[in-house]
Amino acid sequence: MTNPLKPLVIGNWKMNLDFVEAVHLGQQIGVLLRHAPAEHTEVVVVPPFVDLRSVNSIVASERIPVGVGAQHVNPHDNGAHTGEVSATMLKRLGVEWVLVGHSERRAMYAMDDVVVAETLRAAVRNGLRAVLCVGEPQEVREDDGHDAYVASQLASALTGLDPKFHELVTVAYEPIWAIGTGLTASTEQVRAMTSHLRSTLARLGLKECRVLYGGSVNAENAASIVAEGLVDGFLVGGASLKAESFLAVVRACDDCYALMANRRS
Ligand code: 13P
Repeated sequence: MTNPLKPLVIGNWKMNLDFVEAVHLGQQIGVLLRHAPAEHTEVVVVPPFVDLRSVNSIVASERIPVGVGAQHVNPHDNGAHTGEVSATMLKRLGVEWVLVGHSERRAMYAMDDVVVAETLRAAVRNGLRAVLCVGEPQEVREDDGHDAYVASQLASALTGLDPKFHELVTVAYEPIWAIGTGLTASTEQVRAMTSHLRSTLARLGLKECRVLYGGSVNAENAASIVAEGLVDGFLVGGASLKAESFLAVVRACDDCYALMANRRS
């Protein structure tokens, strides 16, 4: 972080935890946050669709200070789209956030750049806060094509987006080779990519957009990545499935932000 925006840590539970397990994890996160509140960091959990209502209920009834998001949304408002869920349905459930274009959806569920752009528009048009996921595969990184690759992903999703929706957009850089592999991008790689993303976003008119990193983030590596990688937080997969490791990542962001704020004052 340099001149930091408020940090954001999102736990993407992917296709893990049934609704009973999801409620349990939500409550554990609530207990830990009550004991040691995150003073500066916004925390969001992203359970599977079928858990959303239960998780949102306990978050509201137990006043757990986390936002709740969905992992995907269909770009259409309704109609013949078997198996899909619309932004209006998510809004009606009280869901505030949605991931858009996660690499697993791009790779396994035929989500190309056009669909990602349509999905982003549908999300923000309905008032959801969208986390646009970008990131290159291993072979692109090896060919040194990563900057151009993610710039094109950003341009295709954001060009022409009505500026009134810009404040609803967060970008998550998740290099595909680092997801679930235990291989984390080095702090130098994260720092270089973060600054590339920020300048690309500024060219596209988004100057105050938070940039997150995702890919094998855990309790051990979060502090150095947030301090040296200049990111505004994390999109966490595996380590978000245990309250302790997830909260350790939150804590790393909180401490880093506090340190930066002290230095500035
Ligand atoms: P891991 O943290 O398990 O590598 O997953 C990252 C991710 O894909 C979060 O969206």
